[in-house]
Amino acid sequence: MTLIRSEIIGWGHYLPEKVLTNDDLAKIVDTNDEWISTRTGIKTRHVVANELTSDMAYAASKMAIDRAGLTAEDIELIVVASVTPDNTTPSVATKLANRLGVKVGTPAYDILAACSGFVYALTQADNMIRLGQIKTALVIGAESLSKIVDWTDRNTCVLFGDGAGAVVLRAGEGKGDKSDKGILATKLYADGSHYDHLKTSGGVCSTQNAGFVSMDGKEVFKYAIGSLTQAAETVVEMAGYTNADIDWLIPHQANIRIISNVGEKLGLPAEKVIVSVDHHGNTSAASIPLAFSENMESGKIKKGDLVVFSAMGAGFTWGGAAVRL
Ligand code: UT7
Repeated sequence: MTLIRSEIIGWGHYLPEKVLTNDDLAKIVDTNDEWISTRTGIKTRHVVANELTSDMAYAASKMAIDRAGLTAEDIELIVVASVTPDNTTPSVATKLANRLGVKVGTPAYDILAACSGFVYALTQADNMIRLGQIKTALVIGAESLSKIVDWTDRNTCVLFGDGAGAVVLRAGEGKGDKSDKGILATKLYADGSHYDHLKTSGGVCSTQNAGFVSMDGKEVFKYAIGSLTQAAETVVEMAGYTNADIDWLIPHQANIRIISNVGEKLGLPAEKVIVSVDHHGNTSAASIPLAFSENMESGKIKKGDLVVFSAMGAGFTWGGAAVRL
């Protein structure tokens, strides 16, 4: 049996130059390094100065296309996951398409699935490749969360960061067995009964402004552990593997306590769980591709490794992907 498999052939990321430390935040709100470090694991986060979300998406995309050894002309689909687009409409993806110089007519759109956005976008692009509609896709998570954070609210402003990550997917061939490379399984979930637990205080229709992030932290925390574990376990099983086969788990980076808990529930040693929340904070849809690209560049994650992405965010939404590199 021959199957089409979407292989990850390029990766890229971008972080704004400006870094905010916990001590910097202690000058703005009533907080301290000890609380932020022990409750969240975050030490520093990057925040935009003059960059827009599309600028970060562009830089991450250029790097990913370069690593793939392709040119923008080869890209047949662009999907951007973001909750912080430059404009309410049109999409970041169309702006990016024009700036990258992809062929006119190449489909490009944004999706909104909050912190699960990258996994949602990856799943859509993978499905189009496996259907034979396209051969090459660019998938990006890009966020300027510092623009929707209330900088007077210590409950939220210490948690988030800005950045972008991107991957290039290309159709390859598999046999449907353990020799296959590429995206082996994906699974998406949502439960809208949790709509109010993590949301912005405004929006186009309700308040005519973007609003600020507000969160019932404890509720999200509990749900995150269960849903991130479920998504990872499900895709590993769908791919025909067990948790013991996982080389790297890249969970959404929101809180080190959530990340460690999920790793333990999956029976993984801490060394197999990728952590970037310490220097990125929570970058929502950018968190997984950012962590992935950084660790591909450093050589920690290698070709041949079995990598599992697992994400959870506002909605609630959650989902996972199992990938053999
Ligand atoms: O991206 C989607 C996924 N998002 C998440 O997964 C986030 C999930 N939630 C969390 O990570 C945690 O719930 C938080 C990090 C947001 C909060 O941690 P917590 O252990 O649940 O703390 P808490 O909200 O229960 O607050 C404990 C105390 C409170 O004081 P009192 O009421 O006990 O006197 C807060 O006012 O800590 C206080 N507090 C702070 N203190 C110093 C809250 N934020 C801060 C702060 N600095 N920045």
